[in-house]
Amino acid sequence: MPNDHRDPNMKRINNKKLALEFIDEQVAAIQKQVGNKKVLLALSGGVDSSVVAALLIRAIGSNLVCVHVNHGLLRKGESEQVIKVFREQLGANLIYVDASDRFLDALEGVEDPETKRKIIGKIFIDVFAEEARKLEGIEFLAQGTIYPDILESKGIKAHHNVGGLPPELNFDLVEPVKFLYKDEVRVVGEALGLPRPMVYRQPFPGPGLGVRCPGAITRERLEVVRESDAILREEFALNDLEGKVWQYFTIVPPFKSTGIKDNKRTYEYAVVIRAVNSIDATTATVEEIPYPILFKIRDRILNEVKGVNRVLVDISPKPVATIEWE
Ligand code: XMP
Repeated sequence: MPNDHRDPNMKRINNKKLALEFIDEQVAAIQKQVGNKKVLLALSGGVDSSVVAALLIRAIGSNLVCVHVNHGLLRKGESEQVIKVFREQLGANLIYVDASDRFLDALEGVEDPETKRKIIGKIFIDVFAEEARKLEGIEFLAQGTIYPDILESKGIKAHHNVGGLPPELNFDLVEPVKFLYKDEVRVVGEALGLPRPMVYRQPFPGPGLGVRCPGAITRERLEVVRESDAILREEFALNDLEGKVWQYFTIVPPFKSTGIKDNKRTYEYAVVIRAVNSIDATTATVEEIPYPILFKIRDRILNEVKGVNRVLVDISPKPVATIEWE
């Protein structure tokens, strides 16, 4: 790829003024590159694709076509937020595809973590390509590539996420944040007026809650992961841990254990809480969540999430553990 190095004289974008300058430059560059042609973007709702979407909407309005694929493994409220922010607030030309059943049916009974990832990656590309084929006159593909992705093409994203578009959909690329570091992308996102929770969102893996439902994913266990994750996030926000802790989520292993409720024995799932701090995900330390907060989260999960009788906390650092369970 030509021109794939950041100009060493480029200032680090760490304030609103520099961000606004960057936005003006990029808007002009995008307009020059694409003219009145149409651009396609897979909008996951992650920081990078969201900032790229907001930049392109500013530059070319409805000539940007965003496709948001719901693979059924997103967190509670995530697709709704993408639709609210992009379609309703920013007026994006947004196609929402609920492909949950297609993904979950294909994943039924599949236990191996890498096979699960491959299936998710492949169906994602298939669904995206199907949508792209339905559209007329697309000439460009926008991507939320950021500088660390270029520097470490063997990095986390490249290592974990498989696949590429089929050759007939090999459009010219528009990559307006490809020379930015993550912290700069966030500053630009704020300057573009994106909501803070979207801009400062914790990392979320491409295969989503699928890797937090270890072994073969069932709709029942996925629901337990989604509901317990929503409670954890809500309590972290209420207790000023959001924005302080790097990544936090719940895992629901594929086994049940006994409990007791209303004098009857139960046989239900255990929810594991994991909260870690890291700089670049290659190593991680464990956040010491105060016990009163943990107890509150425990009580809410045990009372509000159906099918759970036990709550555990994972205190393993990376290494020896990884951040996700698979
Ligand atoms: P691990 O579990 O390898 O995770 O310590 C390091 C970071 O990468 C994220 N992660 C993924 N991201 N696709 C992604 O885009 C994946 O398949 C994937 N698996 C893990 C993980 O959430 C953590 O931030």
